[in-house]
Amino acid sequence: MQIKNSEELFVRLLSLANSAEQQMTKALPKLARAAENPELVEMFEHHLEETEGQLERIDQVASTLDITLKRIKDQSMATLIGDGEEFIEATEKGALRDAALIGAAQRVEHYEIAGYGTLCALAEELGYTEAKNILAETLAEEKSTDEKLSTAAETKINKQA
Ligand SMILES: [Fe+2]
Repeated sequence: MQIKNSEELFVRLLSLANSAEQQMTKALPKLARAAENPELVEMFEHHLEETEGQLERIDQVASTLDITLKRIKDQSMATLIGDGEEFIEATEKGALRDAALIGAAQRVEHYEIAGYGTLCALAEELGYTEAKNILAETLAEEKSTDEKLSTAAETKINKQA
């Protein structure tokens, strides 16, 4: 599938983000079930709610710009989620697994931050002001999730691992 201009690149990246978030709505409940630390469980559950909102924002951006999202799979997200599932299989429930789950979740967050960062920059360049503002809200949520995970790891969970 050819990409001929920045507009088409934006549609492709937005479609990948849509696939990535859909995959996360399935992965986050698994992460929540696998975690032991109640704070971490709560973080995954909270981020699931945020992720559902992020999917709504993607739809909002698509309808604002009259874009039809492509049905493509974000393979990188599938790999990151697969790595997380391997961590679950390789550990017993407890502090060590929690540390591994935080690591897996942060790899996902950094990937998403990169994706939304690019989408915001492209939206800006294309003059999609409303879309940019909507996507910036999601970018801020991903960054805040990443920071909360870092704090949880540094203050408690890694010390128990
Ligand atoms: Fe997300």
